[in-house]
Amino acid sequence: MALAERLGNLGTETAFAVSLAAADWASKGNRVYPFHLGDINLPTPANIAEAMNVAIAEGKTGYCAAAGIAPLREALAHDIGQRRGLTYEPTNVVVQPGGKPVIGKFIQAVMNPGDGVLYPNPGYPIYESMIEYYGGQSLAYRYVQTDTGFAIDIDHLRDQIASASGRVTAIIYNNLQNPLGCESSPQEMQAIADIAIEHDLLVLADEAYFEMRYSGDSTSIASLPGMQDRTVILYTFSKKFAMTGWRLGAAVAPIAIAESLAKLNTNDESCTTHFVQAAGVAGITGSGDGPKAILDELHRRRDAAWAELAQIDGLVCPRPEATFYLFPKVTDLMARMGFDEVGAFATAALHHTGVSFCTRKHFGRPQPGEQHHFVRFAYSGLSVDDIQEGLSGLRRWIEAAK
Ligand SMILES: Cc1ncc(COP(=O)(O)O)c(C=O)c1O
Repeated sequence: MALAERLGNLGTETAFAVSLAAADWASKGNRVYPFHLGDINLPTPANIAEAMNVAIAEGKTGYCAAAGIAPLREALAHDIGQRRGLTYEPTNVVVQPGGKPVIGKFIQAVMNPGDGVLYPNPGYPIYESMIEYYGGQSLAYRYVQTDTGFAIDIDHLRDQIASASGRVTAIIYNNLQNPLGCESSPQEMQAIADIAIEHDLLVLADEAYFEMRYSGDSTSIASLPGMQDRTVILYTFSKKFAMTGWRLGAAVAPIAIAESLAKLNTNDESCTTHFVQAAGVAGITGSGDGPKAILDELHRRRDAAWAELAQIDGLVCPRPEATFYLFPKVTDLMARMGFDEVGAFATAALHHTGVSFCTRKHFGRPQPGEQHHFVRFAYSGLSVDDIQEGLSGLRRWIEAAK
């Protein structure tokens, strides 16, 4: 059967393949500690679930506006604007079934085939997939290690623009970052804004983790001078409200782009589920302390996971203040244990300890010249006890190999 050629350019979230391997290992009667998927095993706050039941009882079960229901667009314009020190109108907000659809729709709205789009690598794998699927030139920018975490290699990013064969139209910027857990310094964020203005780039600010932080405050690149009119914010309910499976998010965009995104909605899914949107209004406007309880629990899990990993000799692990990922370097540890391929190391860890995790290879195509090995632990899907049990087992296995 001959399928469309463009499917050859479509990537995927290969972390789901790690889920399959973990499920297969579990089906053979083994205990598995699932650190591979950034899902949250905490309930959605009750006020949101109740609002959904009420909305269904009220008959909010039919089609609704492609760009989203008015109360949700209003609530999001106010909430997202206020948290960033910006003013948005409901017409800037286009509701989506999750944060992820914003990525492909942004690419479709701003990129012509052959245009270059800059994206973080390691980064969320859907950026690379969507740029290439829609015929763009994927321009990966990379990170360097610092004493406390990771920083964008700005010189390399500028080189990527200079060496692009076509026009460069956009940059995808994910702050706070998956999988690295890192956050831009004010200087780094300003440097990205300067580059966007200098090269007249539109920016997709993926702010999926904007409120997922344990100390300090988040800043949006949209709030830097000259940036609001060239930035589309990706917003999602998935993390803050533990709503990954509900599929609710939004794009916040300059009007011309917002209108195009709404038109894409009409073509793709008609609308986001009405009663799910009504529940989202309750989440944004409600006084429930659900998001705080979720964040407090993730904080405890961060501390537990980091404390275990930090004890492992040969594993270098920054302790991020945001997201729910740890991204340690395992080069020395792998060498000591006799592994030269990170996938083989991950498989051996699963089979010896039940600890399942992703590797750097799941976050965009590895770039030429990369010398070190990294893995990612997502601690959002395990209790503190399970985190301690799983990671201490991993530590003992590594130590025994000395
Ligand atoms: C950086 C980043 N952007 C976007 C998304 C998509 O979020 P959603 O589940 O709302 O589609 C994720 C999900 O893990 C993410 O890590």
